[in-house]
Amino acid sequence: MPHPIDAATLIADSIPSTGFSTATPRPVVLSRQGRSSSRAKSTLQAAVTGWFVVAGLGQLMFVAYLFGFYGRTAVLGRFEAWNQVFQRAHVAGDTGHNAVVAMHLAFAALITVGGLLQLITGVRRWFPRFHRWNGRAYLVSAFVMGLGGLAMVWTGTNVGDISQQIAISINAVLIMLCAVMVLRHALTRRFALHRRWALRLFLVVSGVWFFRIGLALWIMVNQGPAGFDPDTFTGPALTVIAFAQYLLPLAMLQLYFHTQDRAGSHGRMAMSAGLFASTLVTAAGIVAASMMLWLPHLR
Ligand code: HEM
Repeated sequence: MPHPIDAATLIADSIPSTGFSTATPRPVVLSRQGRSSSRAKSTLQAAVTGWFVVAGLGQLMFVAYLFGFYGRTAVLGRFEAWNQVFQRAHVAGDTGHNAVVAMHLAFAALITVGGLLQLITGVRRWFPRFHRWNGRAYLVSAFVMGLGGLAMVWTGTNVGDISQQIAISINAVLIMLCAVMVLRHALTRRFALHRRWALRLFLVVSGVWFFRIGLALWIMVNQGPAGFDPDTFTGPALTVIAFAQYLLPLAMLQLYFHTQDRAGSHGRMAMSAGLFASTLVTAAGIVAASMMLWLPHLR
């Protein structure tokens, strides 16, 4: 025999919502549903916040590397040290090329810190003027990174093959496209859409960071380079990671928006589980990238 409250829930569940208030049992049953729905909502909120906190710490680690390696060597005038990390990073006598690379690295730090500040709710709420100015700087930086990056790819500064060049070029186009959409919706004061495009922009700007943590995790899991040649930096594994660096995060975000809009409690719980798993994978990638790519340059 069903428990009376379970039976009441079943009956009430079968009553379509009219939008009007009804007899006394309804609010009791609704509050039970409401409790489970609000638990699912807060779990989803905790899961997404947890991912951002972990990713934020990982991006700060990347910024520490940018200042600690590129910044420090620049202050010491040892620009040639940059060639230890990627080819043609510094070409003696080629002022134009060197300026593009230096700008790319300076704006890399600016855009990463700026993006994190833009997403912190407290900063948005308590310092709206800062949010607006930082937002403008972020959008300009997105274009500097997109256009400068494209110049670097197609003038032979990049490592990797044509598939990776295409993948990162699509990333650059997406960065500029999302930046235009963020600005458009801010100007027309459609803030719900502005917020969604801002999150997409954050993820595509973070594409190169995802590439680094993805690659380091892949190497760590396989106990060495697998599916690519480390000397030429080409191979199917690198092609997949180069496209996944923005397609996977964008797909996750779209799923999250869908969950927020349409899913019930079960859907929200499933999304939360997916986000918790992503947080673990992200954390593992950050540890791997810190150990392989960033910390060795800070000694
Ligand atoms: C928007 C965020 C971006 C950040 C934060 C960023 C950051 C960096 C950093 C730090 C480096 C030096 C290599 C290293 O120390 O790891 C680098 C190199 C490079 N970046 Fe970017 N970048 C961004 C976007 C782009 C885009 C959109 C493109 C291309 C369209 C691009 C093309 C390149 C190229 C070609 C190099 C030379 C080394 C390589 O091939 O990886 N970057 N970037």
